[in-house]
Amino acid sequence: MTTVTDLDLPEFDYLAPDLTGRVYHQRLAAVAAQGWLARAPLGFVVLEREAGEFFLRSRQTAFPGRQIAQFFGVTGGRLAEHIDANILNLSGEVHRRLRGLVGPAFTPRAADRWRPTMRDLLTRIGAGIDTATSCEFVSTVAKPYASLMISAVLGAPAADAPRLHEWSNWIQKQFDVKALSAELPQIEKALDEAYAYVEELLARHRAEPMDDLVGALLVAEDEGARLSHDECVNLVLNVLAGGVDTTQSQLAHGIRLFAEHPDQWALLRDRPELAEPAVAEIVRLEPITPFTARICVEPIEYRGVLFPADTVIAICAERANREPPAGDDFDITVEHDSRPLTFGAGAHYCLGVNLARAELTEALVYLSAQMPDLVLDGTPEATGVEGIYGMRTLPVRWS
Ligand code: HEM
Repeated sequence: MTTVTDLDLPEFDYLAPDLTGRVYHQRLAAVAAQGWLARAPLGFVVLEREAGEFFLRSRQTAFPGRQIAQFFGVTGGRLAEHIDANILNLSGEVHRRLRGLVGPAFTPRAADRWRPTMRDLLTRIGAGIDTATSCEFVSTVAKPYASLMISAVLGAPAADAPRLHEWSNWIQKQFDVKALSAELPQIEKALDEAYAYVEELLARHRAEPMDDLVGALLVAEDEGARLSHDECVNLVLNVLAGGVDTTQSQLAHGIRLFAEHPDQWALLRDRPELAEPAVAEIVRLEPITPFTARICVEPIEYRGVLFPADTVIAICAERANREPPAGDDFDITVEHDSRPLTFGAGAHYCLGVNLARAELTEALVYLSAQMPDLVLDGTPEATGVEGIYGMRTLPVRWS
């Protein structure tokens, strides 16, 4: 059997400084045309749905957070501790127990219960641009919406939303290999502050118990065997960090797609029932998690290739989601059979998927009515794709 390192493979550098926007899609399409596997920084990249799902779902793989951090010299300190405790880096029985405790707060029905809050937040944010016909969308709508929403989910005061946003942004950089080497002190500082904040939040909830996610976790902690205090703090932090810049970035990319396709925006305004399929189309076409990763915890044979233990594999959701017949067109009226890999697959499938979809759907319904004839009002600026693929600025105008 051929070992993966002996294969003659094309190269794909997901750390290339110019990899964003159109260039990123074109370069990925060119490398995927040569086959399902390419060589990439730290290992390999899988460019096809079936193979991607195989590595995401395999019990012989794990999320390589710890190994990648070690590679960049993060072997001790706050970030190393946090990575070790992050639910994404846990597996087996411990991971199942923690998912069992937080899962009920994130079911489709639980997400639906937040819809009135979502509408209320959108109305409040919209009031700020009521008489305007242009804005920078990321700072005006996407950022406050996502961070106010996570404050509500955690039972934190709305006034704290900007701080939660700031911390989430920094903490999520643990998944960005460029930031791990260049911005470690800022990530560690954010973690220190966020851990202290979560301790305070838990103390407040203890003093005034609420029937919400944090309340349920505190009950589990009190029962002792089900949840330790450290696990409780880390779970709250995982939700805080995972739930802000993800939704913010996906909404911003979605609005950019619509601003580039005015016919689709007009269609959505006329038929708000298309908001749900529109969210599916945005998530498919522009995944803000273009690459998730796995490490082989033991040797794996797949398609006649041996992947030795410790091989790191990036799984490309962008290519998987555009595989024929889905393609590259943005069309909110077309339903696709296959599930996108944007939220991952298998045991670590995104915990917040239902909340994120509901937040995006409510935002599209509201914004398509409030911002008719939406178009770009300048050149949007996207980030790199090595961590969360976000938008730095998105100038838009409407009539
Ligand atoms: C559009 C928005 C979002 C996207 C695209 C997204 C994407 C993902 C992906 C790809 C994973 C799996 C990573 C892997 O297996 O390697 C994941 C896991 C996770 N997500 Fe999300 N996410 C989003 C929103 C949210 C929200 C709103 C929350 C919380 C409120 C959240 C919390 C989490 C958590 C806690 C995990 C870890 C689950 C586990 O390890 O079992 N996410 N997300």
